Amino acid sequence: MYNSKITGLGMYVPDNVVTNEDLSKIMDTSDEWITERTGVKERRHIKKGDGNSTVTMGVKAAKIAIERANIDKNDIDLILFATLSPDYYFPGSGVLVQEHLEIPTCPAMDIRNQCSGFIYAISTADQYIKTGMYKNILVIGSENHSGGLDFSTRGRGVTVIFGDGAGAAIISRNEDSSNGILSSHLHSEGKFAEELSLIGPSTNRWVPEIIEANDPNDISYYPYMNGQLVFKNAVVRFSEVIMEGLIHNKLKPSDINMLIPHQANLRISQFIQDEFGLSDDQVFNNIQKYGNTTAASIPIALTEAWENNKIKSGDIIVLAAFGSGFTWGSTIIRW
Ligand code: UT7
Repeated sequence: MYNSKITGLGMYVPDNVVTNEDLSKIMDTSDEWITERTGVKERRHIKKGDGNSTVTMGVKAAKIAIERANIDKNDIDLILFATLSPDYYFPGSGVLVQEHLEIPTCPAMDIRNQCSGFIYAISTADQYIKTGMYKNILVIGSENHSGGLDFSTRGRGVTVIFGDGAGAAIISRNEDSSNGILSSHLHSEGKFAEELSLIGPSTNRWVPEIIEANDPNDISYYPYMNGQLVFKNAVVRFSEVIMEGLIHNKLKPSDINMLIPHQANLRISQFIQDEFGLSDDQVFNNIQKYGNTTAASIPIALTEAWENNKIKSGDIIVLAAFGSGFTWGSTIIRW
């Protein structure tokens, strides 16, 4: 059996910076409320006409990751694309990346696991490498949230948290067994599916039905989040799944060199940091600059941590996520 490692990382965020102050001009909110409850100071939003979409941002991040992995795009054996905000209802975004990158008939698959999408995608890539089926897999997490948020005061509980952006990683067969991806641990609990969801339009409630009903109170086409329930479950599940990964690899919390949590809310990250007794140097957060970018948040944070020399060879890196589904997971890496 082979093992796998991350050989290249890349990220892309739109140039357009939207501050808390900017949002407070269009809805009833404030920098104080957003900072205190979430830690977010600003986020990036696609501007209409700037050429960005979930797919094109993913492609930009992917090109950087491919170059850093020092491989030819034609060496990519599989594309895995994680998003909750795809360019099209169908087909998935992976095939559009394959077309943009002009990699002939390379298989492409979409992963629909929202905030934990990148962990699920890494885990999937790792399995294909382990069996020997593929050698190089491009994993992308990308989100265009701003295209689908409610920017009226009605949507403020959700809208202020989320931002746009993309991150990408190349996962490759590793010839050195002393490092690489050690394990991933995945979970879901569908009884909470509607607690963080966007349920319409869907095949249960198709667009003509929504238009015909013409109901101004129907907001099923905007994301819904039961914030407090999500928060309470997040802090428990994050802790559990990080511990599960550590125990599986006979590691202790003090062995963690860098924890990269999904950037859901700075208060959640700080809670986990305290729970595991980690110092500020052992946890990477950049939600202050980008908001919560869902499937893109871990690859964006991992890329920035790596670019800022916060990750060195031999380090134990822990990735962890919790989100809609509910789904959650962790990945333990020896860098
Ligand atoms: O990545 C996916 C996972 N998502 C998460 O991890 C999010 C988890 N949840 C959270 O981060 C928090 O629940 C939120 C940040 C979303 C909300 O914070 P909260 O402390 O749970 O606030 P709340 O929803 O209980 O609302 C408190 C008050 C309400 O007013 P009243 O009813 O007390 O008068 C809200 O209407 O704050 C109000 N409020 C706002 N006020 C100003 C809600 N959103 C805003 C806002 N600006 N943006």
